[in-house]
Amino acid sequence: MPFRSLVRACGAYLPQRVMTNDELAARLDTSNDWIVQRTGIRQRHIAADGETTSDLATVAAERALASIGMTGADLDLIVLATATPDHTFPATAAKVQARLGMRRGAAFDVQAVCTGFIYALSVADNAIRTGQAKRALVIGAETFSRILDWNDRGTCVLFGDGAGALVLEAVPDEGGSAARGVLSTHLHSDGTGYELLYVDGGPSTSGVAGHVRMEGHEIFRHAVQRLAEVVDEALTANRLKADAVDWLVPHQANRRIIDAMGKRLGLPPEKVVITIDRHANTSAASVPLALAEASADGRIRAGQLVLMEAMGGGLTWGAALVRW
Ligand code: ACO
Repeated sequence: MPFRSLVRACGAYLPQRVMTNDELAARLDTSNDWIVQRTGIRQRHIAADGETTSDLATVAAERALASIGMTGADLDLIVLATATPDHTFPATAAKVQARLGMRRGAAFDVQAVCTGFIYALSVADNAIRTGQAKRALVIGAETFSRILDWNDRGTCVLFGDGAGALVLEAVPDEGGSAARGVLSTHLHSDGTGYELLYVDGGPSTSGVAGHVRMEGHEIFRHAVQRLAEVVDEALTANRLKADAVDWLVPHQANRRIIDAMGKRLGLPPEKVVITIDRHANTSAASVPLALAEASADGRIRAGQLVLMEAMGGGLTWGAALVRW
């Protein structure tokens, strides 16, 4: 029998320390007004000294599992999306696996920067659909604060740290878009955009972690175009129109990109989940953090149609449609 991936639970974790725009403006040539007007960001969370991506990921995962009375022993797959792993290797997922007490199955990382969570969800969903896994944990976790050039006002004001996790479980696939579960995922990349958004370090180039470098304006232009295409692709694949979407849960990179997508889909602003004002861009963590928030406060409910999209370094972009 074919399977489908049902979203059973969400969890989130944000580091305690909050950094406001005014704090940044006190030591950089920027202002709260510029950051709010151009991006929608008002503050971001920053990991404490010694607090690593696996620490954030483990708490988000534990919260998701605890909410449905599960432990790591109930899982047979962890896919963790991050561009800021604890170490070059092993995978951060392996550390999380050990800390959750999971001793079987597989755990590995996926790297697609800000699109990482959509990629990880797609990998886990495919494993469930093919019967390779029954219960999967999908995590997006980042400590981007560690790879920012804190003197570059064009990038350091944009990012924050955090983690979000989803538990997926195999259920019989009843077919069609009305049945609950992941309906489809859509992944794209175009490596000719590699240098538009990258980190100027890495084990094979400089041997140090490096810092984020971004052609913000070019990325913005690509994001609006590519996200529109992939959202259309996801709806068309499921023979759905935009008015069927209950919630748009976009990657939180820039409020203006999010508003443009909502408008293009004809969705009223109250159907778009926004966290960028409080979290900034947490890269692979932004979509699961937004999902966790909107399901915990009762906005996203069972049976509703959730559209996720993201765009990031690579360039990478993707979308997922989920009947919650
Ligand atoms: N404070 C004040 N001024 C600033 C700041 C700042 N923090 N940053 C840039 N500026 C200045 C620039 O120097 C420039 O000044 P100039 O006109 O004198 O040269 C001016 O503001 C305009 O700069 P732009 O880069 O053209 O501003 P823009 O409106 O494009 O906003 C931003 C910049 C916010 C970075 C935007 O381009 C953006 O959000 N891009 C997309 C980012 C994104 O989507 N990333 C995707 C994923 S991230 C990932 O995968 C890791």
